[in-house]
Amino acid sequence: MAPVALALILGWWLVAVIRAQHLPRPSLWLHPSQGVSVGDNVTLRCHLPWPVAWVWLYQEGGWTYSKSKDKQQDAAEFSFISTSREHAGTYRCQYREPESAKISEQSDPVQLVLTDHSFPPPGISLRPEERVGTGTNVTIHLWNKGFEATFLLHKDGCSAPVQHQDSSWGGAANFTVFGVAPADAGTYWCSYRPWHYPHLSSPLGDSVMLEVTPTPAPPGAKELSHANLVIALVRGLVAVLVFGLGVFFVIDARSLWR
Ligand SMILES: *[C@@H]1O[C@H](CO)[C@@H](O)[C@H](O)[C@H]1NC(C)=O
Repeated sequence: MAPVALALILGWWLVAVIRAQHLPRPSLWLHPSQGVSVGDNVTLRCHLPWPVAWVWLYQEGGWTYSKSKDKQQDAAEFSFISTSREHAGTYRCQYREPESAKISEQSDPVQLVLTDHSFPPPGISLRPEERVGTGTNVTIHLWNKGFEATFLLHKDGCSAPVQHQDSSWGGAANFTVFGVAPADAGTYWCSYRPWHYPHLSSPLGDSVMLEVTPTPAPPGAKELSHANLVIALVRGLVAVLVFGLGVFFVIDARSLWR
């Protein structure tokens, strides 16, 4: 009997140790996930692996929020009603297990970026302006009113920014698309994030449209003109033949008439 009891105790102890050491990390999600402006509502939802006692939400270098959990829910929600600039930042969540009172590791960080309409929208221009053939180098020039900032380039149909770049001098940046392809065609917008407020974004500025005309590949073009030449030659031969026959018949008819 003693070995069985010992095995049971050992087994229980092992399970407890493993569970305490491997508390699954919670995961943190934003709702809505993007496009939140200062003044909008936003919810940070911490997803939990099992019912827990306490949940904490940390803002990096800022506030800590906590919540006791008595209901059997698999997520804890922290809602900001009418966000302000101070709510923008990096967040993580963490929980405490009721039985072991163990504290989990923190979730992966989540960035709450708020669009602040008090920042002037950026300017945007395209060089060359007119529609371009494939293979052309195109530059998109962006500027704001002198803020040192990270510029983000957005394209229609892409949820995430397609490129980002720190302003080089004053508040401007250039994105160059080397050798444009038809897939680069589309509408582009820009926003920027001032270095002093990395979690605040300017609104999107005006858009520019990049039009790309496919230039035919040289070997294909050669083949095409070659085929055209052959067709033109055959047509010419047929025309000469028909004309010759016509002349022959006219001469023949005249001789008959005489
Ligand atoms: C595009 O830029 C690259 C790198 O600067 C250069 O080598 C290339 O000649 C340019 N192409 C055209 C069509 O201007």
